Amino acid sequence: MQLKGRTIEKTVVPEPGKTILQHAKDHEIDWQHMCKRGTCARCRCQVLVGAEFLEEPTEAEHRRLDPEEFDDGFRLGCQTVVKMPGKIIAQNKTYF
Ligand code: FES
Repeated sequence: MQLKGRTIEKTVVPEPGKTILQHAKDHEIDWQHMCKRGTCARCRCQVLVGAEFLEEPTEAEHRRLDPEEFDDGFRLGCQTVVKMPGKIIAQNKTYF
């Protein structure tokens, strides 16, 4: 899994069952977040590659993100769980 930030790009081994945010935190990547419940959207990210390796969006994501954002690959890092190993590129893109 490759996690891209404003100044950091890091490749980590994806672990099924863990969220994108958990991967970032475990590998000391500066990934914005606050609530970890799917409400603040500070952890919002754009999945550029590998959406098929992720679980489907949670109810919290459907409540917080617009349908157009899903179309553009946006997810909430604290809610997005890796389903299986594979190349995943996600970039933290918060609203502010
Ligand atoms: S940390 Fe708040 S929505 Fe993910």
